[in-house]
Amino acid sequence: MTDEALETKVRSGGVRPGSNPGMRAHDSTPGDTKTEVSTGDLPDLETVQGVVALAHRTYLDVHDGQVADYIPALAEAPPDLFGIAIVGVRGRAGGIGDSTHPFTIQSVVKPFLFALVCEALGHRAVRERLGVNATGLPFDSVMAVEIAADGLTNPLVNSGAIAATSLAPGETAEQKWEFLVEGLSRFAGRALEVDQVVVDSERATNGRNEAMARLMAGHGRLYFDPDEATDVYTRLCSLKVTAVDLATMGATLADGGVNPVTLRRVVSPDTCRRTLAVMLTAGLYELSGDWLYEIGLPAKSGVSGGIVTVAPGKGGLATFSPPLDAAGNSVRGQLATKLLSEALGLDLLVSRPFEEPDPAG
Ligand code: DON
Repeated sequence: MTDEALETKVRSGGVRPGSNPGMRAHDSTPGDTKTEVSTGDLPDLETVQGVVALAHRTYLDVHDGQVADYIPALAEAPPDLFGIAIVGVRGRAGGIGDSTHPFTIQSVVKPFLFALVCEALGHRAVRERLGVNATGLPFDSVMAVEIAADGLTNPLVNSGAIAATSLAPGETAEQKWEFLVEGLSRFAGRALEVDQVVVDSERATNGRNEAMARLMAGHGRLYFDPDEATDVYTRLCSLKVTAVDLATMGATLADGGVNPVTLRRVVSPDTCRRTLAVMLTAGLYELSGDWLYEIGLPAKSGVSGGIVTVAPGKGGLATFSPPLDAAGNSVRGQLATKLLSEALGLDLLVSRPFEEPDPAG
């Protein structure tokens, strides 16, 4: 459907995506219901290292995709960079290729930003104020804000991420920034710093995000000064990480909110599962359905070429390769993650019969 046709349908009341905070299923279960946890383990270290090496070798020679250039500083990334890292919940870490090459986190910051705000405000408040449903539209879609019945999108697209930033604890932009960077650094297990060249480049070309924030404010869905919230969000996107950092951050979400390398708690188990739910719904934007269909794991991509993927109870894995597909997702990263998900038995949706069927039946 063209944008115009969709808009006509929306205006006529034919499409009203929105959230449903009043739904009964969102009530707490009775107090005596115990939440059980059922996951599994990663294979042994040698198998994991072998599969990571295989994924790297297999896709090293794929040269499809384009390096993002809408932020001028990102266009300079060498397209050949390719790294993979994995961190298990026992704290075992491994990487191959350019797994320690620094790059700016970009949209991969969004689930961690959401987790910190969710932890601070509570899962109900953030769902009511940000929304948690897929938009089905590109990450920077202005129309997504316009067509939602209640101006809500989700924290993994730009509109929802800027709104999440605006909700961070703190009276001033600087206090919000400090709160978020400190929390993101705890996810990574080290102090994260901004890439000043990328911040300057983004600030100079940020008209769309600035307009989006003002539009959100017009809908009553931005909870701080729109320009300041956008600037904090932009600086967060420009934090420098490596694939090993992203895998550690993912492993923290896989490990009930405890960083398995530093053994420090970052967020609660409940915040982790809410964050993973949003990653399943919207982590790869309009291709999130394809990703779930192929890979079966919560993940988040970014325009600098990073993808973080979480195997709950097992660990976090991350890929870094700058060339992107049309939706803004790393081409090699998607391929390598699929191979890792299959070969390491990570896909959440796969099962095997408890007993093989009777051949005579
Ligand atoms: O706001 C932006 O446009 C960038 N700082 C981040 C976008 C991004 O990474 C989208 N990901 N695929």
